[in-house]
Amino acid sequence: MRLSLVSAFIYVCGALAQSGSVSSYISTESPIAKAGVLANIGPSGAKSSGADSGIVIASPSSTNPDYLYTWTRDSSLVFKALIDQFTTGADTSLRGLIDEFISAEAILQQVSNPSGTVSTGGLGEPKFNIDETAFTGAWGRPQRDGPALRATAMITYANWLIADGNTTFVTNTVWPIIELDLNYVAGNWNQTTFDLWEEVDSSSFFTTAVQHRSLREGITLANAIGQTSVVSNFETQADDLLCFLQSYWNPSGNYITANTGGGRSGKDANTVLTSIHTFDPAAGCDVVTFQPCSDKALANLKVYVDSFRSIYAINSGIASNAAVATGRYPEDSYQGGNPWYLATFAVAEQLYDALIVWNQQGELNVTSTSLAFFQQFLPSVTAGTYASSSSTFSTLTSAVKTFADGFVLENAQYTPSDGGLAEQYSRSNGTPVSAVDLTWSYASALTVFAAEAGTTFASWGAAGLELPSTCSAGTSSGTVAVTFNVNATTVWGENIYITGSVPALQEWSTSTALLLSSADYPIWSITVDLPASTQVQYKYIRIYNGQVTWESDPNDEITTPASGSYIENDTWR
Ligand code: NOJ
Ligand code: NOJ
Repeated sequence: MRLSLVSAFIYVCGALAQSGSVSSYISTESPIAKAGVLANIGPSGAKSSGADSGIVIASPSSTNPDYLYTWTRDSSLVFKALIDQFTTGADTSLRGLIDEFISAEAILQQVSNPSGTVSTGGLGEPKFNIDETAFTGAWGRPQRDGPALRATAMITYANWLIADGNTTFVTNTVWPIIELDLNYVAGNWNQTTFDLWEEVDSSSFFTTAVQHRSLREGITLANAIGQTSVVSNFETQADDLLCFLQSYWNPSGNYITANTGGGRSGKDANTVLTSIHTFDPAAGCDVVTFQPCSDKALANLKVYVDSFRSIYAINSGIASNAAVATGRYPEDSYQGGNPWYLATFAVAEQLYDALIVWNQQGELNVTSTSLAFFQQFLPSVTAGTYASSSSTFSTLTSAVKTFADGFVLENAQYTPSDGGLAEQYSRSNGTPVSAVDLTWSYASALTVFAAEAGTTFASWGAAGLELPSTCSAGTSSGTVAVTFNVNATTVWGENIYITGSVPALQEWSTSTALLLSSADYPIWSITVDLPASTQVQYKYIRIYNGQVTWESDPNDEITTPASGSYIENDTWR
């Protein structure tokens, strides 16, 4: 049963949970979240002893899970939040800490690690020891979002420094660090990567989107300080990234498929985090960059949120158009596969960002793509543009505000009375689980609270971007060459075939399934022309003496790229 909103603390399963209004939660939690971030930054953070200067620990938890490492992704997102506070004047005391972060990351860039050296791929290494030495254990590497996120954080600071008259420091100290990261992005974005959850090795929407953003703002910075030699290559790569970004859209499911591999539904907080981390208030509701109020981002948000309604016990009994607790992705089982604070806050933040833009532009647009999202709040609404003077605009924006607040209140309900934010809270009873004091959870509170207050930040150049004509063919009608490799041990006379959901894969027929070549046995292989930008399901089958054996469930699934070719590596299941 849902707890009513009383301005009091309520007792839930051994932990004091917080309930009340959004504003009362924000006023209590905001200083706690800020202190929580600062406690996890070395050398003097209260919970980060042993961390070098400017090093962000992911969490002080050292067992189950051991998060006493520094991740480039977490650190960069956390410092982006701090740099935003500094550059907007919300906290002018942070400059020394930001400079320490820059020095620390400059050191980490040069540390040789299992992904390589600074010039041979080492920038894609996901995490380091907190004394700035390499982590050499097995891990999902590389993770190519890190350099892009770090560049974005530093570019935000660099732009402020330039406006403040300190171009020399930018040119001599900050730009060389940014340039290494951006060259890595420009040179490697087309290679596969582990996703932000460190599990799926393919291409990933979040990674592609933050890479695109980093190059666009990198171009502007490079021009501003006369480092123009990189510009033309960055422009070419950014255009290609923007093309590729479109290919994650799944038109039949009305959502963004998070990864090109992984064999999951593809519904994932990855996509919501993308919307908030590439929000550019100057870009309105532009759809090519999936702005928070774009029809595709809103349609996606609904599908993502709905995927958690029935799987978490704590969400049961909540109306189908009200906020629920959300996690990384519905199939998640890591540390119990529970709701995550940072995922649930991200939903609220996307909605607050959308409200900022609708109010700023004085209208709201409903399209066939976003219709299902809006009909949750007003079943009779139809596609159209609604001016801020219309009752439809007021009804929808106030419902969206209530919906957004609801996600904050979900987290509030499961925030213990000391305000500590772990990584997850139990799907069955809401008690905090997994890593305690997750730095990224605290940072996600800071950014959603800022969005709730209507705070906006400088543009990164998303306004007016158009898809280059070179990619329009691939996104609509073209085909791409997809190579399927599957590792399968067979007996003599037994063969491996593929069949799947589209005509080119014989529409699940076993009698006309396509035979793979065993030239590289035990790898069986075939290259098939498949429609571009399309979600395709398939399975391998083995046929021996006319007997068909299917792979176990679920079906395998890929989303083909907009253009070019694609290689899928599988193991027989
Ligand atoms: C550790 C990663 O940090 C986490 O994201 C992942 O889910 C687990 N390993 C399981 O692969
Ligand atoms: C696991 C998360 O999946 C990953 O995104 C994060 O970087 C690490 N934990 C550290 O917080």
